[in-house]
Amino acid sequence: MATAASSHPQTPAIDPEKLNALLGRAVQDMGAALQAPLVLIGDRLGLYRAMSDGVHLTPAELARRTNTSERYLREWLNANAAGHFVEYDAATDTYFMTPEETLALASDDTPIHLPGFYYLLASLMKDEEKLTEIYRTGKGMGWHEHEKGLFEGTERFFRPTYLASLVSSWIPALNGVEEKLKAGARVADIGCGHGASTLLMAQSYPASQFFGFDYHPQSIEKARERAAAAGVADRVKFEAAPAKSFPGKNYDLVAFFDCLHDMGDPVGAARHVREALAPDGTWMIVEPFAHDDTAANLTPVGRIYYSASATVCVPCSLSQEVGLGLGAQAGPARIQEVVRAGGFARFCTVAETPFNLVFEVKEEDGECPDSVRDW
Ligand SMILES: C[S@@+](CC[C@H](N)C(=O)[O-])C[C@H]1O[C@@H](n2cnc3c(N)ncnc32)[C@H](O)[C@@H]1O
Repeated sequence: MATAASSHPQTPAIDPEKLNALLGRAVQDMGAALQAPLVLIGDRLGLYRAMSDGVHLTPAELARRTNTSERYLREWLNANAAGHFVEYDAATDTYFMTPEETLALASDDTPIHLPGFYYLLASLMKDEEKLTEIYRTGKGMGWHEHEKGLFEGTERFFRPTYLASLVSSWIPALNGVEEKLKAGARVADIGCGHGASTLLMAQSYPASQFFGFDYHPQSIEKARERAAAAGVADRVKFEAAPAKSFPGKNYDLVAFFDCLHDMGDPVGAARHVREALAPDGTWMIVEPFAHDDTAANLTPVGRIYYSASATVCVPCSLSQEVGLGLGAQAGPARIQEVVRAGGFARFCTVAETPFNLVFEVKEEDGECPDSVRDW
């Protein structure tokens, strides 16, 4: 006969140190999460920009500078000071921003710009009920089915990284590509979204022609507006097209920025890229930084990517044909399998940052550069 003890298993002993460590992490996360709407408010109302001269301000002075409500700003400033997005000077009871905080929060055109991320985050919070439902049903959720803040949030989140690395280090790392782009080449940017990467390349290589494709027509419309505003619409064409059937041939460079893993059929896309490349053409794949081993990806950056993957990337892939669901942390070995299944022989990692891996892919096999890993 079962005893009372065996039918009600004992509660496992709680280790107070482990519990405290968990709560400590949770308190950090809760503060960051609750501060998120304040970062959006600060960006939209120009509060960070108004503090970018480093002058020590009272809430009333900041309210006068920005035509906003002093009482709210006092609370906003204290929350931001507690999170060290602004600083508090207790001696004068004023607030100011350091040059580093200004760089990260007050200007759009810098290699580090934090507010973009919060637009993306806000859109995912708005989609939470839809996401919960697909976790029940297993259905996909296309990029186009997300709340519209995702599109601008993604552009603003990724653009600073491209600004920091694309022209200065990623393109020069590709064998012979920079020379071609300077001389005049044909470039296709697939899954281009609002065209941030396409436009940065077009502005840097005026002799070349650029074609941006994305399956999402609303993103393509925005990309066209951005091209017109940047004054490069004569050399940059944007068109709605999926990665498996984008038009044109003889591209010297085909680029995929943070989108291969979002596709349902990345192998089909790889096959199409092979057909669209010029002889000796290069496929540049930029993917989120990842290791092949799940345990090695359980880092602060991996946490961001797995969370984006669980809410955007895997649902997008599952919404499309094949539905491979690579995920944003697939890792180089898995990406290489996809590329080779598409008929390419050469696969080299030519650059990496804490956030991205850059792969050079070519039809013919060849030595990878010594300075970087040959995965
Ligand atoms: C994470 S966003 C990256 C956008 C852009 N490359 C950037 O870095 O800012 C992924 C993009 O892939 C696009 N996409 C997803 N599946 C696609 C497909 N099968 N063909 C073309 N584009 C696709 C989405 O519409 C979205 O714009």
